[in-house]
Amino acid sequence: MTKRSFFATFFSAAALLALTAGALRTQPAATLPKQSFGKTSDGREVYLYTLKNSSGMEVTITNYGGTITQIKVPDRHGKFDDVVLGFENLDGYTQKANTAYFGATIGRYGNRLAHGTFTLDGHVYHIPTNDGPNTLHGGTTGFNKRVWDAKDVSTPGRPALELHYLSPDGEQGFPGNLNVTVRFSLAANNDLRIDYRATTDKDTVLNLTNHSYFNLAGAGSESILNDKVTIAADRMTPVNSTLIPTGEIQSVAGTPFDFRKATAVGARINENNQQLKYARGYDDNWVLNHPAGTMALAAKVEEPNSGRVLEVLTDQPGLQFYTGNFLDGSVTGIGGVYRHRSALCLETQHFPDSPNHSNFPTTELRPGQTFHSTTIYRFSTE
Ligand code: GLA
Repeated sequence: MTKRSFFATFFSAAALLALTAGALRTQPAATLPKQSFGKTSDGREVYLYTLKNSSGMEVTITNYGGTITQIKVPDRHGKFDDVVLGFENLDGYTQKANTAYFGATIGRYGNRLAHGTFTLDGHVYHIPTNDGPNTLHGGTTGFNKRVWDAKDVSTPGRPALELHYLSPDGEQGFPGNLNVTVRFSLAANNDLRIDYRATTDKDTVLNLTNHSYFNLAGAGSESILNDKVTIAADRMTPVNSTLIPTGEIQSVAGTPFDFRKATAVGARINENNQQLKYARGYDDNWVLNHPAGTMALAAKVEEPNSGRVLEVLTDQPGLQFYTGNFLDGSVTGIGGVYRHRSALCLETQHFPDSPNHSNFPTTELRPGQTFHSTTIYRFSTE
């Protein structure tokens, strides 16, 4: 490099630094708005935190259950609507009738464990069953019913909330003290990013996800059957009548589970197909095509009327696509009555019942290892 170009590079780098510093100064890390969300039955106060970006998108999260209660995004005309199912009050989340896990952080083990049992290092563990003969979403008191510690970890231009929960050794029958953090952050381009991190002091298993129910036409709208869905998966894991994987990994080709090309949810949902019948619609795990551990587009949802688009990116190997088959109009939330198939879930995770299937990617975590995983819910319009 000549002396002259060295100085030119040096000064332009310095100018860039000064400019960046200036930009940072004018955009301070805002404090997240926080408001009381009520008290749990054991008297613990929980809060609502709102992440708002420069485009006006808002995500509201409560530290009760690590739950996303609202996501407000614009349609193609700039009109904002809440696109996830949720409740106005804490009571909505704690009431018995709510068995839907709206917006919650799910753990320790997302989806089902057959007969509530698994073997690890030669020990048989028993987890309470809460879904017929099986355990669903971590047992009778999963992470969705715990109070998490909350910390505002916003940085300039990026509001962020970090939740922490220490799940004690033996909780719901799972081994090891499990330290879990879930960080929600909102970027200016309407990416809602969720980073999971966990460590343990004994060999254990875990499967973490978020259970948001999306209706891109606005929560409370009639149905998601016209939404067009794409899933980047050539294969899925079929289930038995209690929705436990049989262990097979099956091609989606020629079945109603082929979403490799954008297809309306309702186009094949009522077909005479055993898998669809077992779950009363879609409620299955797709085996994502991307190589393990790399971030990639897993799914896309396009809602034709509003023009809203949701893309889901993840480093997880599986995606549970669930079409709200168990919603039956018996609960009312912020958006109104939540009817059968009026929302869909895209739960990025490991495969259901993995501890009982040695051919599935492992869900084991050992002391000294750190579990990391990221999912991005990316909102746009078309
Ligand atoms: C998951 C399960 C479904 C259902 C919902 C919550 O998606 O796979 O079967 O339990 O959670 O109701």
